[in-house]
Amino acid sequence: MSDLCHFLTVRNLDRHQIDNILNSAHSYSKGAAPQCPTGKKLLASAFFEPSLRTQTSFEAAMIRIGGHILGARSTSGSRANASHEESLSDSARVMSGYADVIVFRHGSAAALKVYADHSEVPVINAGNGNGSEAEHPTQALCDLYTIKQHFGQIDGLTVGIVGSLQKRAVRSLLHALSNYKVRILIPNTAPIRILLEDEVYLSERDVDLIVLDSVEDLIKASDVIYHGGLAADWQQQLGEEFFLTADRLKGARAGAIVMHPMPRPGSISTDVDKTIHAKYFDCAKNGVAVRMAVLGRVLQAEGG
Ligand code: CP
Repeated sequence: MSDLCHFLTVRNLDRHQIDNILNSAHSYSKGAAPQCPTGKKLLASAFFEPSLRTQTSFEAAMIRIGGHILGARSTSGSRANASHEESLSDSARVMSGYADVIVFRHGSAAALKVYADHSEVPVINAGNGNGSEAEHPTQALCDLYTIKQHFGQIDGLTVGIVGSLQKRAVRSLLHALSNYKVRILIPNTAPIRILLEDEVYLSERDVDLIVLDSVEDLIKASDVIYHGGLAADWQQQLGEEFFLTADRLKGARAGAIVMHPMPRPGSISTDVDKTIHAKYFDCAKNGVAVRMAVLGRVLQAEGG
């Protein structure tokens, strides 16, 4: 891979760097951060999977730090679509001739490295596949930011993960949380088990990982109840057990928050929205400030 300042994983960030991004995002949210020297910089979105939050908030963030965006286009407008009319490597080479930074999403985890290897400008991972190698680093930063916004700190919290532990947003959150002194609760349900590589990663970083037999126990014991969603083929089978409702949350701690990267159908009932626990819309909104901080970091590392 080139020595460009790609932003592909949270695993390349230490706690100090994550805290800097969260602090910078806080300053942006208050209008207190100086604009980045991005006056003439261009952001391109290369989304080979649909997105509402990530793509839109990146584009809003680029405009808010003083940059510009190339017009949004669907993947069918790209020749590097599912029909493979054009290779990803050629697409990356061409797109990087038009923009200063590219935000990239793809359904295949492996596509990210191919794209980043052939881009001549920094690539930011906006979600690549699911399972091994899959990550969604800026979602994890939005999650940490929202947790810190609510509790004032991340250390000392108990985070319960409901839903699949192999989804990219959950994997990146687990990796990011390993920088803090947290307790992580996970359900003991075979199809949504943590990947061995993540279990090893957390263990090497001394994270307190506890497997629970019931989602109800997890709801009771968590400060953060994070629903990462279920793969479509498991929703039918496990849906009820992993569907959060206002009634089930009566068992939660008074100050507990419920989060989800969204979209949330099949995971969280709309009756949760009215409870004091719901923080998923705040998290989606925080995406702009957090991505302003990420773009500022990436563009400044490339010389402004
Ligand atoms: N959280 C998230 O990745 O949402 P989108 O798929 O809408 O970008």
